[in-house]
Amino acid sequence: MTDRELVDLAFAMLERAYAPYSGFPVGAALECADGTVYTGCNVENAAYGSSICAERTALVKAVSEGRRGFVRLAVAGRSQDYCWPCGACRQMLYEFAPGLKVLAARGDGKYFACSLGELMPHGFGPKSLEQGE
Ligand code: THU
Repeated sequence: MTDRELVDLAFAMLERAYAPYSGFPVGAALECADGTVYTGCNVENAAYGSSICAERTALVKAVSEGRRGFVRLAVAGRSQDYCWPCGACRQMLYEFAPGLKVLAARGDGKYFACSLGELMPHGFGPKSLEQGE
């Protein structure tokens, strides 16, 4: 699958986003090492703090289905700026895929490709815990 195709899957998920409070729909598509893709969207809640982002929706769908190895993530919004993964999503993704490639797309369809390491240098992950005591 090309980067463009993965980004388009993320854009398609904007239709499923439930974002009545922020008015900011987000879609995500997470690719596993074998090419399988799990999609997600943000799902908000009247108790605002209970809302979940698109990327974490895709991630928990994948992990709960037994997947662990991820290679690429596309995240898309309708915003002018690229739709960057929030800090909580970066952290959750780092747990399973510190070397993940990230494609952040904006409303006009363009996307910016980078690595999760670039978005989150000096990340804290499972390896960090091995260095305690
Ligand atoms: N949102 C995401 O889904 N992913 C991100 O990484 C950034 C923020 C959602 C959360 C909330 O539903 C809306 O965008 C506005 O913050």
